[in-house]
Amino acid sequence: TPVLRIGIAGLGTVGGGVLRLLQANADLLAQRSGRRIVVAAVSARDRHRDRGIPLDGVRWYDDAVALAADPEIDVVVELIGGADGVARVVCETAIAHGKSVVTANKALLALRGPALAAQAEEAGVGLAFEAAVAGGIPAIKGLREGLAANRIDGVFGILNGTCNYILTEMRTTGREFAEVLAEAQKLGYAEADPSFDVDGVDAAHKLAVLAALAFNARVEFDDLHIEGIRHVSALDIAYAEELGYRIKLLGIARRTTEGLSLRVHPCMVAAASPIAHVEGVFNAVVAQGDFVGQVMMTGRGAGAGPTASAVVADLVDLARGLRVPALGIPAARLEAAPIVAMDHR
Ligand code: NDP
Ligand code: HSE
Repeated sequence: TPVLRIGIAGLGTVGGGVLRLLQANADLLAQRSGRRIVVAAVSARDRHRDRGIPLDGVRWYDDAVALAADPEIDVVVELIGGADGVARVVCETAIAHGKSVVTANKALLALRGPALAAQAEEAGVGLAFEAAVAGGIPAIKGLREGLAANRIDGVFGILNGTCNYILTEMRTTGREFAEVLAEAQKLGYAEADPSFDVDGVDAAHKLAVLAALAFNARVEFDDLHIEGIRHVSALDIAYAEELGYRIKLLGIARRTTEGLSLRVHPCMVAAASPIAHVEGVFNAVVAQGDFVGQVMMTGRGAGAGPTASAVVADLVDLARGLRVPALGIPAARLEAAPIVAMDHR
């Protein structure tokens, strides 16, 4: 069987999950993609940490950028995180060396997605990021491929598993915010800096990526309205429940006549609505297409298994030789769209 040789930079929650999935489902993946996906090299900070996964025969790099330039690797999987610093250099170096990149890094994509997509297009390689939005939900492929025939008028959803987990636990068990956040960190849901989760920034990164795909737009991340859940108290949640509502952190992107409306903030949603029942680490992505109507996708939005599922789906695409523009259309054709100030509709 032909081989796809990959290098994985970052062996934390997601990197570890990817290694386990590739091992557990190796035969199935080879059958589906026509190629055997072989981990040729890995990189992380601490070479001596026991990661519970055998890495015999796999090249180790202390320097992730050197891994990205390794001539014996076809695809680089970037699972380090962060919009700047080493993750960005790893992706740019891999593309410059003619390798496709798979990444789960929504911060990088929200801030530098169009530039990275343009670089990949020029180099004739793939840039894939299914794992960057809503963990295991195939939201990127759903929007970009599944709904490609529609004009998308809006996309919204629950885009952060940590926040939804916290809000759900506060409501159902009455536990304190800080205690539940610590648990979400232990479960591998939270970002390295959890203020990205609780202050709404991570959901906003994902919303910016979804909006670029939905509206073929170049989104200025700094123009998004962002509010998190720090100020939501157990009492707020209890009062909302008494009135027949649940509190959810939503990301909402709408096309308006003046421009795009892009915002992240806690919302009261009717307890009987489908999105109110998306609980715990589950996320939801709802898209409104002109012909299809409303489509809602739900599933686990964070954690090792669901995120690895999305990363490896991208590897299967690359192994199959599939290539679609990362942002749905060539990066140079993304439209500049003004982002309107926060409205309350
Ligand atoms: P972790 O913090 O668990 O893992 C980060 C990994 O990167 C660690 O293995 C760390 O090494 C390694 N690393 C850090 N700095 C360097 C460096 N300079 N060179 C080489 N390796 C380095 O993060 P996650 O696995 O949770 O997240 C990874 C990415 O996936 C992020 O972009 C995140 O936003 C995204 N993501 C995460 C999800 C989740 O549920 N956790 C879901 C969807 C996306 P060491 O182990 O030695 O410390
Ligand atoms: N920290 C993120 C979350 C990980 O909780 O949703 C998934 O992107």
